[in-house]
Amino acid sequence: MTSPVSLELGTLCPKMISAWILILAEFITVLSCGEAPMPRHTVKRFSGLYTGPYFDPTTPTNITAQLGTHAYLPCKVKQLGNKSVSWIRRRDAHILTVDRYTFIADERFQAFLVEASNTWTLQVKYVQPRDAGQYECQVSTEPKMSHFIQLNVVVPKIEIVGEAELYVKAGSTVSLRCVISRSLEEPAYIFWYRDSERVLNYDKTLIDIRMERIGADTTVGTLIIYNSRREDSGNYSCSPSNLDSASVMLHVLNGEQPAAMQHGNSGARTRPADWRWVSLPLALLAARKPKLLLLAAALLILIACHESDDGK
Ligand SMILES: *[C@@H]1O[C@H](CO)[C@@H](O)[C@H](O)[C@H]1NC(C)=O
Ligand SMILES: *[C@@H]1O[C@H](CO)[C@@H](O)[C@H](O)[C@H]1NC(C)=O
Ligand SMILES: *[C@@H]1O[C@H](CO)[C@@H](O)[C@H](O)[C@H]1NC(C)=O
Repeated sequence: MTSPVSLELGTLCPKMISAWILILAEFITVLSCGEAPMPRHTVKRFSGLYTGPYFDPTTPTNITAQLGTHAYLPCKVKQLGNKSVSWIRRRDAHILTVDRYTFIADERFQAFLVEASNTWTLQVKYVQPRDAGQYECQVSTEPKMSHFIQLNVVVPKIEIVGEAELYVKAGSTVSLRCVISRSLEEPAYIFWYRDSERVLNYDKTLIDIRMERIGADTTVGTLIIYNSRREDSGNYSCSPSNLDSASVMLHVLNGEQPAAMQHGNSGARTRPADWRWVSLPLALLAARKPKLLLLAAALLILIACHESDDGK
């Protein structure tokens, strides 16, 4: 009764044993390979996780550009193959570009490929405040892949330090300071205008024009008028190469008025006018800083005495 079984076993066993040995051998190979560090290296060397396009992790997500400059939004795609890259404006879901082609009626938008770095860059020329927001770099895989970049637009601030109207006495040195802050890019130059006529510093003992960068985002332009005369009065504008201008009204008050009055011309009308010019800012001053009023009054008396001396 047992013989058929043993016979069966006898014929089966050698086949089974050899099969088991093969399986065991495979298993040992797999195990030993798993323990060895080699496969990990392989994964790294061939970026084996990605079979198609993928975004380079160094692609930025936040770009800041100054108003009026060109902004560059880079989208780094590896293993792009023959897939397309589109740029889409999040605000209105407008497709801006597909590969090299621009799909918006705004010539400021353009995309170009830098092959060396696998980068499709969206260029936005003359950035406006309304350009700020999110932009999507989309790769035409199935499903689509997207990378988002936030574009920030900084608007520089420009102002001439002090009041909008400036009153000085003839002969004094006038210094106008034009401060441009929050500017990522230093202006190439700052022009000064008086009533829309360019102010030049041919003679540096009369007029000096300076420009200096202070800190990472601030530039100061200075116009100095030595020994100011009545003719120097006017609307002064500070006009940087890359920004709007700022302006100030300069009134140079003539200390020679009493002498003119003696010669019988319109000086009689001018002098009270001069005092009115002085009293207005004084009133403003008094409203803001009452303590300074006393000092200013003393100064006025001094000026008045000086003028009456000149008159003799
Ligand atoms: C992006 O950059 C701007 C300016 O550098 C900064 O103010 C802002 O906080 C940044 N935003 C993010 C999300 O990092
Ligand atoms: C892209 O390339 C693949 C093979 O690499 C091909 O099968 C496919 O048709 C191509 N697609 C286009 C739009 O050329
Ligand atoms: C001074 O000139 C600027 C530009 O040239 C102008 O915008 C501004 O209104 C003028 N200011 C006055 C008080 O006339």
